[in-house]
Amino acid sequence: MRSLEELAKIREEAIKKVDIRGMKEGTRIVVGMATCGISAGARPVLMALLEEAKVRNLTDVVVSQTGCIGVCRLEPIVEVYRPGEEKVTYIEMTPEKAKKVIAEHIVNGKVVDEYTIGAAE
Ligand code: FES
Repeated sequence: MRSLEELAKIREEAIKKVDIRGMKEGTRIVVGMATCGISAGARPVLMALLEEAKVRNLTDVVVSQTGCIGVCRLEPIVEVYRPGEEKVTYIEMTPEKAKKVIAEHIVNGKVVDEYTIGAAE
């Protein structure tokens, strides 16, 4: 049986570890995978993003999925969150466009304007 003091110490150390993890900011790429996204082709887009991030060994990039983003007609939608930058929303994505976004935006830091929601409206 551990003393209360020991338990408090363990707890504190665990919290510290989480903080350190939370501080390491990287790029987050989120793909809308509601039914509309999937039917519009979000799955191959997600696969292309994962593949390209792996090929380029982008260890600080997380590719994840979300549900409804709210604009069915513009699916597949991909959102990019980079530390210190505004969110960028890419629409009507294809695997080819996804690869270009990785190369130009994620690697070179240049938003691919013509694929963004701003360019469509
Ligand atoms: S159901 Fe299509 S964006 Fe929400």
